[in-house]
Amino acid sequence: MDIDKNIDTVVDYLLNTDNVSVLTGAGISAESGISTFRDPDGLWSKFNPQELASIDGFMSNPELVWSWYQYRVNIVNNSIPNPGHYALAEFQNLIKNFSLITQNVDGLHQRAGSKNVVELHGSIVRNKCFDCNKIHTSKIVEHNKISNCIYCNGKIRPDVVWFGEILPRHEIELAQIYAENSKVYFSVGTSAEVYPAADLPLIAKRNGAKLIEINPNDTQLTSFVDVKINLNSGIALPLILEKYKEKKGI
Ligand code: APR
Repeated sequence: MDIDKNIDTVVDYLLNTDNVSVLTGAGISAESGISTFRDPDGLWSKFNPQELASIDGFMSNPELVWSWYQYRVNIVNNSIPNPGHYALAEFQNLIKNFSLITQNVDGLHQRAGSKNVVELHGSIVRNKCFDCNKIHTSKIVEHNKISNCIYCNGKIRPDVVWFGEILPRHEIELAQIYAENSKVYFSVGTSAEVYPAADLPLIAKRNGAKLIEINPNDTQLTSFVDVKINLNSGIALPLILEKYKEKKGI
């Protein structure tokens, strides 16, 4: 199928519904200069996730884990949202029931203007106490060394979901409700390999949603989708938005 035809099909889906959900992964931030995880040059080709993104890793070497996250925070702070992020923020103002669920921890959706973003895996720009879970703003945290909790003196850690940890209950339940009720569901920039997030597009499909994947590569979700757009999201999403506005006469 050619890309223009696919985009027209997606726009027609959008024109005939007011209930849309979008699940994003690291790919949507790739054009902002933030590495993905599983691409050939991704983070997991350079770093060991079990050593740096797990409770055991933090317990055995908190300084190493902390410094790796501060390295990533620095990259995020020096990055800006790209046209893909901005297109989703604009869609939120155009479609009545538009929900954005992300696996990303970089906060770029919020910086692009998206509201009520469901962060399934937490946020790298937020910290919490390893023991009592109380949130600590970045003002309290000294970035070059681990700080201690001002409430219980426990060690401060990034407020992200590590391998082996459960996702925040409210966020995953909300994401499942969105998946069950959406009429159009996008999977954007994710390899669809990490559960339970990877289940969400399939839940949407099972509940009758039109399923669209935006990814320059195929994934294990690709064979289930109604429309596959083999483009970078920073190109595809603004194209869809422009066609949608044109057909809506906006
Ligand atoms: N536009 C769209 N998709 C892109 C782009 C782009 N510009 N660049 C890369 N991609 C795609 C890749 O083809 C790949 O399928 O983005 C996907 C990124 O996959 P992963 O690196 O596996 O990232 P993600 O799916 O978000 O990982 C899920 O795994 O390690 C954990 O917690 C981490 O949230 C992360 C989770």
